[in-house]
Amino acid sequence: MPDLIVVGVDGSVPGFDAVAWAADDAFRMHVPLRNVGVVETWPYQVPQIPAPEWDEALIENSRKVLAQAEEIARERQPTIEVSTELMTGTPAAVLREQAGDAIELVVGGRGLGGFAGAVLGSVSMNVAGQVPVPVVVVRPRAAVAHGEIVVGLDGSPTCEPALAYAFRQAELRGSTLRAVYAWALPFALAAGFSCDFEALREAQQRVAEEQLASWRERYPQVKVIADVRCAHPVDALAAAGDRADLLVVGSHGRSAIGSIVLGSVSRGVLHHAHCTVTVVRAKDAPTPARR
Ligand SMILES: Nc1ncnc2c1ncn2[C@@H]1O[C@H](COP(=O)(O)OP(=O)(O)OP(=O)(O)O)[C@@H](O)[C@H]1O
Ligand SMILES: [Mg+2]
Repeated sequence: MPDLIVVGVDGSVPGFDAVAWAADDAFRMHVPLRNVGVVETWPYQVPQIPAPEWDEALIENSRKVLAQAEEIARERQPTIEVSTELMTGTPAAVLREQAGDAIELVVGGRGLGGFAGAVLGSVSMNVAGQVPVPVVVVRPRAAVAHGEIVVGLDGSPTCEPALAYAFRQAELRGSTLRAVYAWALPFALAAGFSCDFEALREAQQRVAEEQLASWRERYPQVKVIADVRCAHPVDALAAAGDRADLLVVGSHGRSAIGSIVLGSVSRGVLHHAHCTVTVVRAKDAPTPARR
């Protein structure tokens, strides 16, 4: 079983934030850290612009960026083992490959490129939920630690790996775990439908408690809040994330296991939450084709 954390480094501030986050997690988990920089040389190798010196310049720049990343990691956690890997290729593809050696892949929410309004870069989007290991999308650290981790659940087995990750993180950090289960009446029914809302609410509370029961037993030292809400899951999770240090979701929910790309909740959470988000591949999620 490979035992290291891989972090993607592109020289951006969010990329360096990711290095700091990954160094802290490597310390918590007692595993080494590998900083990976991917130089994407191919866009410049078109016949009209034969500029091999550009490749050299890009590689030299990446060397410097990786040295800076190593310094950040060592300064933050002097006792962890840090290594560096400079690769060439397509960043998302190389990082997905590197994740094969890792227990976790860490990236920044944004990088060097992208248009100003985007909240999530294409590399982050192309790795989240696309590898068998958890992918952490790091957002700027809040001024104060909240001492709380949020995990989303939907009563189905697909979110068990996310629960496993969230309970482990809560245990390692000594944090409270807020387990958010958001439910709503099917949209088409909601308008003219009458029902015993209180009975429904209690039934949903039971669904959450049943899913949490075995985890509470396994982690008796973790304080768990079962937070059952009648709301859209993306709204509920993003709101809870505003008061949390980390928000954990599965890559797919109960209804979207057939889809290769992320489920709508994990996709929505990545776009709307302001805190650091870990996407954990759902149980039985399909393996995406390599790009
Ligand atoms: N070339 C790279 N090498 C290693 N890691 C990278 C590379 N590019 C991006 N990353 C990782 O992915 C994170 C998000 O960067 P991403 O490229 O997705 O955003 P962006 O540059 O803002 O947008 P885009 O590249 O889609 O225009 C970075 O913070 C970094 O952790
Ligand atoms: Mg980029």
